[in-house]
Amino acid sequence: MNVLVVGSGGREHALAWKISQSSRVKDVFVAPGNAGTALDAVNVDLDPDDYSAMVRYAKANAVGLTIVGPEVPLADGIVDIFKDEGLKIFGPAKPAAQLEASKVFCKEILNAGNVPTADYWEFHDADAAIEMIHDRYPGESPNTACPMVVKADGLAAGKGVTVCSKKHEVLEAVELIARDKVFGDAGTKFIIEEKLEGQEASILAITDGQTIIPLPACQDHKPAYDGDTGPNTGGMGAYCPAPLVTEDDMSWVAENVLVPTVHALKANRTPFQGVLYAGLMKGPQGIKVLEYNVRFGDPECQPLLMRLRSDLVDVLEAVADQDLARIDPLQWDPRPACCVVMASQGYPGSYEKGRVISGLDDAANVENVKVFHAGTTVGKSGAIINNGGRVLGVTAIGEDLKTAQVSAYQAAKLIEWRGSWYRTDIANKAL
Ligand code: AMP
Ligand code: GLY
Repeated sequence: MNVLVVGSGGREHALAWKISQSSRVKDVFVAPGNAGTALDAVNVDLDPDDYSAMVRYAKANAVGLTIVGPEVPLADGIVDIFKDEGLKIFGPAKPAAQLEASKVFCKEILNAGNVPTADYWEFHDADAAIEMIHDRYPGESPNTACPMVVKADGLAAGKGVTVCSKKHEVLEAVELIARDKVFGDAGTKFIIEEKLEGQEASILAITDGQTIIPLPACQDHKPAYDGDTGPNTGGMGAYCPAPLVTEDDMSWVAENVLVPTVHALKANRTPFQGVLYAGLMKGPQGIKVLEYNVRFGDPECQPLLMRLRSDLVDVLEAVADQDLARIDPLQWDPRPACCVVMASQGYPGSYEKGRVISGLDDAANVENVKVFHAGTTVGKSGAIINNGGRVLGVTAIGEDLKTAQVSAYQAAKLIEWRGSWYRTDIANKAL
């Protein structure tokens, strides 16, 4: 069959690369893809918002299964549109995608399922939020300790969350969301929740709404710079498995997080099919859910799929068929994998595009390395140029995590464009 992957990032390159290895697959199309997906699959120049055009393309090109990478099309209802047209697609329907697209919905599901998460308050205007803050933290000084997190309800390209330690930070975050409307409609509602301490891990699970297959735990690196400093990003690197998450933790999360969430979604008449991505905090209070995403993580997907030995298409199709129980236990390469993200100068702020990337061929020749592309395109001269903030995900597998890390950095050092940079401490936490 032919498979269509929707999206253009590193995650979608990893998906297209893995899917193209399936003996069952003839052509893999990526809409719109990047310069890397063009090497492992066929790019299709479709407008990312034009789901009708994707449906037409899928029908005209015998696409037997579509996989959606990013959250925005899921929240827009791309799955519902494809299903209405009789097309097989992997991902949650629009009502279930609210789990990521609305923080309030997510909290309601967590509470309905009795899943451990931070205590929270929901607000629709600034005044009520400010009053609550002054009530709970009566100190006059703007520097009064106030360990709270302010979250815009809707999708805000990963920028809607402000983690605060002082009172003035909380008050400013509220002003930005509720008065300055910096996130537009995504900030019509917002929540304030208690700040949790500890280390983060991502546990992704594939589910058809009945059967749940947890995938090995990963750890992302969200802050831009070494030592977890600097502004938050979409993720500067990831590794898998994450030793922070023990076997016992995995069982505990399956029983107390994944199963009750899937049940709560079903009971709410918003059954979930797709990837359930639990962002977790492990700390003195145990494990609690920070958030859910409804798709593969980026960059978590890259090291995860590098370790997957089973045929991914069988699994994703079984979800679309609502028959995940037919799938044998997944086979994993026991070796760990590590992904180092290379970024454009200025990211996560503004950056220049169009700079020629050198060294990709040399990096591809490093043993046990795969360079996944994210923000790349082919320039007028035919050279590969940067076209986004996160540009490449240099991913390596190795006998142990240290070996994987060394290989990933060895390859990353061979690649360069003007202003390119990366964190130099990805996976150090686990070593
Ligand atoms: P979210 O989009 O909800 O995952 O938030 C983005 C990031 O903010 C998370 O990856 C955490 O680093 C941080 N974060 C979110 N909620 C909390 C919380 N309750 N306590 C501490 N950090 C948080
Ligand atoms: N790596 C974080 C995310 O995909 O949301």
